[in-house]
Amino acid sequence: MDSIIVKGGGELRGQIPIAGAKNACLTLMPATLLSHEPLTLTNAPRLSDIATMTQLLQSLGAEVTSMQGGQVLAMSSHDIHNHTADYDIVRKMRASILVLGPMLARDGHAIVSLPGGCAIGARPVDLHLKGLEALGAVLDLKDGYVHAEARGGLKGATFEFPVVSVGATENVLMAATLAKGTTVLKNAAREPEIVDLAECLIKMGAQIEGHGTSTITIQGVDSLGGATHPVVTDRIELGTYMLAPAFCGGEVELLGGRINLVGAFCEKLDAAGVDVTETPLGLKVKRSNGRVNAVDVVTEPFPGFPTDLQAQMMALLCTAEGTSVLEEKIFENRFMHAPELIRMGARIDVHGGHATVTGVDKLKGAPVMATDLRASVSLILAGLAAEGETIVNRVYHLDRGYERVEEKLRAVGAHIERVKSQ
Ligand code: UD1
Repeated sequence: MDSIIVKGGGELRGQIPIAGAKNACLTLMPATLLSHEPLTLTNAPRLSDIATMTQLLQSLGAEVTSMQGGQVLAMSSHDIHNHTADYDIVRKMRASILVLGPMLARDGHAIVSLPGGCAIGARPVDLHLKGLEALGAVLDLKDGYVHAEARGGLKGATFEFPVVSVGATENVLMAATLAKGTTVLKNAAREPEIVDLAECLIKMGAQIEGHGTSTITIQGVDSLGGATHPVVTDRIELGTYMLAPAFCGGEVELLGGRINLVGAFCEKLDAAGVDVTETPLGLKVKRSNGRVNAVDVVTEPFPGFPTDLQAQMMALLCTAEGTSVLEEKIFENRFMHAPELIRMGARIDVHGGHATVTGVDKLKGAPVMATDLRASVSLILAGLAAEGETIVNRVYHLDRGYERVEEKLRAVGAHIERVKSQ
């Protein structure tokens, strides 16, 4: 397994281009299953999770052609001959469950493996299933698989999510585009990735209103057509690289960045003493001198502070002036980066869903273990500002969500390299 070696020290200066959003692309790709016409995505990120979704769609009979080095994905689902999403693929990536709604809506049946365990908590899919049941799907759980049927087609209904779920909103939204009649989704997720999905579905001919608010109304149509759609900017990659100059000092411009994608996060950066300004090309982030201020952070569904930036923010606060409290309200057990940061000299006390971080003057390089995607990158950021060398092991998580991380950080002056496993 590859490792990443980071040497701390030195300001960062220059530009980092931000890719299309992994999480948006992972829901836009299954949307191809709703139509017999081609769907082309541009600005796609080049990541192993996208390769996994490609593999899954191809196993169902979809054609997926990757062009321009992976930035364009041309998809066609005119011939779906297999309606079973196999455990071997689904277990690698939870987002695989997103093929369920589209397949069921289009052909009236689908069998999808349950995703199983996950490093950052139980993460069930019950809300996906309840939403589809509300649209008339008949579900049966057998041998670890969900067997779903809607032989006469799905029917529009009003469904209120008991908990805000990004994935469940996406799955039920896609299914409802082909249901008979009107569907109203209440307490829906409002993430930019949901808005991006809805905009793509509208281009395909769907009738959707209210996306970006907590009530989405969908008027079902008989069929959807083709479309070409650019994937929205990855707000998590954006926020991650915005933190790089906050850790190291200097000034970095994030190309393609927009404040409205990272509003709550920018408020916390401001409170920490990091300057963020909009430029014609994106966002510029600057930290002139001294330690950042301690700030308290609570993760919440969008537009709140994203759970996917919690690990990176915690790493920054490890060297803040004062004590910060981070509260994780989305996923239990999402503080696995804390023991690794402690190995680097951080003072963190985790108690339930809270972590208290008492800032130290400097972190010190150490060998650490990447436990999940966002934890991995938080350790790289910490390493950039630490004294000495940090070796981040098990970085395969990183390749699921960050394209060319070493190249992008090296371009702004970071000392970082990948060591290939033997
Ligand atoms: C998506 C993102 C992930 C991000 C998360 C929260 C993708 C591919 N992944 O994950 O990066 O961290 O949103 O912003 O887009 N829940 C249930 N039952 C369900 C579904 C969810 O109880 O059926 C719970 C989860 O355990 C969690 C909460 O609801 O506590 C929110 O999860 P959800 O928004 O569904 O996350 P994902 O869509 O899996």
